[in-house]
Amino acid sequence: MYTQRTKAKFEALKGGDPIVMGIESSCDETAVAIVRGRRVLANIVASQIDIHRKYGGVVPEVASRSHTDVIVSCIDEALYKAELTLDQIDCIGVTYGAGLIGALLVGVSAAKAICFARDIPLVKVNHIEGHICANYIDTDLKPPFISLVASGGHTAVYKVNGYNDYEVVGATRDDAIGEAFDKVARLLGLPYPGGPQIDRLAKEGKPTIKFYKHAKGVSADLSLSYSGLKTAVVNFLHNARQKNEQINVPDVCASFTAEAVDLLVDTTIVAAKREGLKTIVLAGGVAANSYLREKLKVEGEKNGFTVLYPPLSLCTDNAAMIAMRAYLSAVEGKDYADLSLNARPSL
Ligand code: KG4
Ligand code: ZN
Repeated sequence: MYTQRTKAKFEALKGGDPIVMGIESSCDETAVAIVRGRRVLANIVASQIDIHRKYGGVVPEVASRSHTDVIVSCIDEALYKAELTLDQIDCIGVTYGAGLIGALLVGVSAAKAICFARDIPLVKVNHIEGHICANYIDTDLKPPFISLVASGGHTAVYKVNGYNDYEVVGATRDDAIGEAFDKVARLLGLPYPGGPQIDRLAKEGKPTIKFYKHAKGVSADLSLSYSGLKTAVVNFLHNARQKNEQINVPDVCASFTAEAVDLLVDTTIVAAKREGLKTIVLAGGVAANSYLREKLKVEGEKNGFTVLYPPLSLCTDNAAMIAMRAYLSAVEGKDYADLSLNARPSL
């Protein structure tokens, strides 16, 4: 019954201008947002960073419990900020992957419960596509374009052919770039999450250390790798400590950042040239990195591309990007989900 009724309601949203709620709980932010078109009516993020900091990283079970504690109040607050009631929400988009299974299930269960109770259609949202959609908020960006997604769990270059058409053209073979940032920061004794700390310290240092020689520059298949660079920094720090040598932390941060980011920028530019596209957009938590933002802009523009990126608050995990993704699905009648929707940790 629910499926038939809400599927019809979902179909009716096609080509319209629905009010969409987004729910995000894939990792360590509980987030709820409401959008109408490219306009954000509310964007609530309850970060768990302070909770996980003392463990040096995200503890999955603690993350799930924290999501459970705050998800209802985040939903209430988003409605309050947007001056709306649940009856005025046309559909709900929820992140169903990728992410931590227990964490994802909190958002998915909450979204399904509201949709069932209120007869609201449900839209399934891929977290990575959500990151890319942060670039549509308050802009007039239109596909096709190349998008570099650099986050804690993913590093890939996408060709975005349409609002609902995403194609991977290059990706990391092993670790994600954000994972490498966090690991190097931990070895330097910096608090979690390490990316912003390395960003801050890199500005005080110089890229004087060569950790790892990337053998052939941009690879023919546009693949990337971060485990070799990560191990090279581990070995460098280990050797220096064994020899009791002074470690210049800002120089380590600047050198690591340059090596991690330069190849990423080069790979993205080769991808854009190969695909014959004129616009490059940046997305994901590492898109907040000041060196990456600057380098991609300078190199991209030098090569004749328009380079765009979201404001800092929309780079790291948030639900405005998830609601935006769901809005674009709903107006084209895509990605409807029924109540059998399950979390997909490795989507
Ligand atoms: O997209 P995100 O919030 O979560 C995932 O989907 O993974 O990305 C989090 C990642 C973390 O690894 C964090 O250290 C990194 O983004 N990050 C940064 C910066 N801000 C966040 N990395 C480098 N520089 C930054 N300013
Ligand atoms: Zn993310």
